[in-house]
Amino acid sequence: MYSLIFRLLFVPMDAERAHHLSFTALRILDSVPLLGRLVRFVCARSAVHPVEVLGLPFPNRIGLAAGFDKNGVGVRALSALGFGHIEVGTITAHAQPGNDRPRLFRLRDNLALLNRMGFNNDGARQASFNIAEQRERIAALPQRLRPIVGVNIGKTKVVDASDAVSDYAASTRALAPLADYLVINVSSPNTPGLRDLQSVSSLEPIIAAVRETAAEVVEQPRSQLGHVPLLVKIAPDLADDDVLEICDLAMRAGIDGLITTNTTIDRSVLTGTEEHFATDQAGGISGRPLAERSLEVLRLVKGRVGDALTVISVGGVADAKDARARVAAGADLVQVYSEMIYSGPFFPGRVIRGLESSRLLTRGTGGA
Ligand code: FNR
Repeated sequence: MYSLIFRLLFVPMDAERAHHLSFTALRILDSVPLLGRLVRFVCARSAVHPVEVLGLPFPNRIGLAAGFDKNGVGVRALSALGFGHIEVGTITAHAQPGNDRPRLFRLRDNLALLNRMGFNNDGARQASFNIAEQRERIAALPQRLRPIVGVNIGKTKVVDASDAVSDYAASTRALAPLADYLVINVSSPNTPGLRDLQSVSSLEPIIAAVRETAAEVVEQPRSQLGHVPLLVKIAPDLADDDVLEICDLAMRAGIDGLITTNTTIDRSVLTGTEEHFATDQAGGISGRPLAERSLEVLRLVKGRVGDALTVISVGGVADAKDARARVAAGADLVQVYSEMIYSGPFFPGRVIRGLESSRLLTRGTGGA
């Protein structure tokens, strides 16, 4: 059914417009009490498998990656699809329009997306109002269904790299009080110079400023850790040695976790004519072609950090088997995005139920 709707309605439509249309439709359905409950009943059936990570009670291990709900307007509606956490953002201190359209493309033969959105968002102040409203709505849900809200922050495009520290601190001041966990995003390929902030010398002061600001503005963190958990999201295009250096910095700086990975600028992961198309276009690739490197980076990170840090794995997860492989490789949580565009609103629930039943099976047979 969804593949028919996808082909007839969404494929002829610009990908970004299709995104807005489907997200708006979901939010409208969720706002009508009976319909909202029906969506939750159909999509999120048997999706509660509680797990404590980062000192927070996650309803399950599967979350929606950053970039879908950039302004934090649809947390409750998205949780009706079964997600145990929603990472909103990337949000910047100042509102900004992002890059010119078109800026989101489907690469259907590769089951991938190419995006160069460029952190289009309404800014930290507006997002703080939106998330506060969403928090009120999810507070009305039974505790076991309440999604965890991550807030992903990035650098405002027009702010110079030399002022990045105060820009991240400004976002933290506005958003930390509303975040269950915070993510420093230094890995989007679509803000010029952003990924250079992954160098240890640039990242260290940003981590310190975000941590100190969060401690100043949040008196009673929701996490049992006693502070707002802080994570850094990294790119898959880092050399292995640089990944290891970030792991060491993360442990030294006392951050709580890493998110691996953002989109890739590597076009060789694609095949056929779409590889040529993407070679001429700026932007990051997500979806199935990213899976191999994303899993590789997860293994690299886990090999270095062991259980010292929480690791959230994202990139090319297409079914419960993939999610299971990420958990087996040491991921505490798994996020998805692109595959949902191709597989539809039942996808998160399928992954959650499949992950849990395969875990039970493995446990039953004495496996890891
Ligand atoms: C993204 N992603 C992303 N990540 C981030 O940290 N901040 C952001 O604003 C965005 N924006 C964004 C927009 C679009 C259209 C896409 C497709 C992706 C990256 C996303 O969170 C994730 O890391 C990658 O998409 C890899 O996961 P999937 O899509 O392969 O499951």
